[in-house]
Amino acid sequence: MAKLKTKYLGLEINSPVIVGSSSHTATLSKIKQSEDYGAGAVILKSLFEEQINYLIASSTSTVAYPEADDYMAFYLRSNTVDEYLELIRKAKESINIPVIASINCISAGSWIDFARRIEEAGADALEVNMFFLPLQSNITSDKIENTYLILAGKLKEKIKIPLSIKLGFRFTNVLNLLDELYKRRVEGVVMFNRFFEPDIDTEKMTIVPAEIFSEKNEMRYVLRWIAMASAQKFNIDISASTGVYSGTDAVKYILAGASSVQVCSALYKKGLQHIGEINRGIIEWMERKGFESPADFRGKLNYSSVDNPVFYERTQFMKHFSSYD
Ligand SMILES: Cc1cc2nc3c(=O)[nH]c(=O)nc-3n(C[C@H](O)[C@H](O)[C@H](O)COP(=O)(O)O)c2cc1C
Repeated sequence: MAKLKTKYLGLEINSPVIVGSSSHTATLSKIKQSEDYGAGAVILKSLFEEQINYLIASSTSTVAYPEADDYMAFYLRSNTVDEYLELIRKAKESINIPVIASINCISAGSWIDFARRIEEAGADALEVNMFFLPLQSNITSDKIENTYLILAGKLKEKIKIPLSIKLGFRFTNVLNLLDELYKRRVEGVVMFNRFFEPDIDTEKMTIVPAEIFSEKNEMRYVLRWIAMASAQKFNIDISASTGVYSGTDAVKYILAGASSVQVCSALYKKGLQHIGEINRGIIEWMERKGFESPADFRGKLNYSSVDNPVFYERTQFMKHFSSYD
């Protein structure tokens, strides 16, 4: 697998294929299996901001955590934060591939101080999954986006390990946001997160969770943005996340400019051993095309490298609609 060696967030990785944050990376045994099956790195299952806040509240006050309902109280009480730090330590002792910690956050609050404890536990990098759901019509996009930037800036002051921000894809100008993150010395971005989405059961007339796993064809929502972002002047590492099922999918994202690809749904459907299959697919393609390493073909089909970027620029279907009479 030497051919697959590359770099992400300045870290040496044996393969651009990374196991995305999920229950695949919640236990030491699965983390070890991920390495054995050929993952380049693991992004640990996220710790939630609420878990960290609970720890802070319970160590600074004798008042019971007021908002927690029974489930949350039980969930948060179960030492999860300490267990998380222990998981980082154990993973670092047991495996050789980079261990990237992950936090899910919904505000730029006091939890930020906690990032240093993740660094002290030995994590190689920190991925922060940010999403601030706009619930009021009188808050402007500028204000919301500024929260991302404030948060990223504060995190950079707290930690020395590389920081990567996992974004959702609902931004009016994601390129501007990436540029601003880069100016704040953020080393990487993950494009994109997958949200818990609602669906409607028309028979029961209730709200139900939408399909949790991605489909391969959802790559279509991501490819353009990676191709555009990797062609900009700012030099931020991009990890592609959404719909990677095969070596070909990984190759597409790298050609568009990603430094790494994260896999999650495919591993739920096919098992962790599928990492090996994806790696073999990338190698087989590289050998056919005569490439020695992922760096040799990264970004070869990004927005600035193709002769005619019309497919990246065109969003309306004028020509295609007319060919489907
Ligand atoms: C069951 C499940 C659990 C997940 N848990 C997390 C999580 O804890 N933190 C996070 O940042 N992303 C989480 N994700 C999102 C994935 O890491 C990934 O970004 C997303 O599923 C898109 O990649 P995929 O198409 O390969 O599934 C989860 C996804 C799934 C399906």
